[in-house]
Amino acid sequence: MDRSNSNKLHLEAENHLVGGVNSPVRAFKSVHGSPVYFQKASGAIVTDVDGNELVDFIQSWGPLIHGHANSQIIDAVALKMQNGTSFGAPHMGELELAKRVKQRFQFMDKVRFVSSGTEAVMSTVRLARGHTGRDLIIKFEGCYHGHVDSLMVSSGSGLATFGIASSPGIPKDTVATTLVAPLDDEEILEYLFSQHGSEIAAAVIEPLPANNGLLIQRKGFLSKLRDLCTANGALLIFDEVISGFRFEQGGYGGYVGIEPDITALGKVIGGGLPVGAYGARSEIMDKLSPIGPVYQAGTLSGNPLAMAAGIETLDMLSEESYQLLESLGSTLESAVNKVLEKHNFPMRIVRLGSLFWFSPGDGKPPNRADQIPSNAGVMFAKIHQGLLERGYMLAPSAYEIGFISTAHQEHHVLGMVSALDDVLENLE
Ligand SMILES: Cc1ncc(COP(=O)(O)O)c(C=O)c1O
Repeated sequence: MDRSNSNKLHLEAENHLVGGVNSPVRAFKSVHGSPVYFQKASGAIVTDVDGNELVDFIQSWGPLIHGHANSQIIDAVALKMQNGTSFGAPHMGELELAKRVKQRFQFMDKVRFVSSGTEAVMSTVRLARGHTGRDLIIKFEGCYHGHVDSLMVSSGSGLATFGIASSPGIPKDTVATTLVAPLDDEEILEYLFSQHGSEIAAAVIEPLPANNGLLIQRKGFLSKLRDLCTANGALLIFDEVISGFRFEQGGYGGYVGIEPDITALGKVIGGGLPVGAYGARSEIMDKLSPIGPVYQAGTLSGNPLAMAAGIETLDMLSEESYQLLESLGSTLESAVNKVLEKHNFPMRIVRLGSLFWFSPGDGKPPNRADQIPSNAGVMFAKIHQGLLERGYMLAPSAYEIGFISTAHQEHHVLGMVSALDDVLENLE
């Protein structure tokens, strides 16, 4: 497949943008290639600058649950745009999106919109600290919460790819208030709470960790965390930036029936425009300015274009949408696993709903970061390159997950599976 225009642009971009990209995971470093430059996209398909059409399983890293350039979303945004791109003042769109969020996250009395997932999680931590008057937070190994200073410890996402435990530029004092626990270990949780219970403001977790592979958590573990938080007067924060709206019940919390105190959202809620949000009971949310003392603000927060995209996206997420996503997901899971078995390739698909991950190894799927074999990157690079050559786009990292949208069709999924069959055939 000719990618000469992409390669030329990347060389030029390296002179102007750091590593040629604006977010590290977009670089193809860990799969030993260079990024594909997109020209346009529609539904499940992206067209690159060399005119190649690729079936896209990245979908902008999760926001595009209805696929690229969905006409209803585009029309809603275009219509709003005629009346102004940003007001910096209240408007109906904020109200309408907040109502829709509350329908799916019923424990929330109030919602605050921001402009990214990072901003949402960062604000939940400040709110929890302000609400409890405590400083310590617990985070979990392998969970990524955006580039929030206090949470950039043992994160996943680009950090997992590049093997960076933390980042320079974060003062020691900032992470000194962060306790790190492994996922799926109730004993360590009990120990941390027994030592620091009265100082812990909150435990922050991706209830469905999806930035360091897809590490599906047991309900029992999340339930233990819920109980320990409640017993110690700490808040439980679910970061559902990736998992939010991927389940008919709202997020993974709703799916397993565990209620946090605060939930952070992003990605799908903005339908492809920059939006994040967080919400909780009034008692907690009213600690926020302008009612309470905890300050958090944003010039473009709740802007009309982002709200319009979010409203349209959520309105289109019907029962049938989730049935379709589940059916495409289960087709992909069983067909890919058959092909991997056929070639005796030591990987399997881990999948929940429309989220999937090529998990290295052929035993029990990992549910903790330290269970992922260290050769994950090498194995994944082989299939990533082969699939790309055959027109199928997966995230360029062994630790990132794949996304199915309602715009995907069975032939896109099965096409990827036969391409994988061919890739593995030619590896042997
Ligand atoms: C679980 C989770 N939290 C937070 C973030 C940060 O969101 P954003 O990239 O919009 O700042 C991400 C992004 O991938 C995420 O997956």
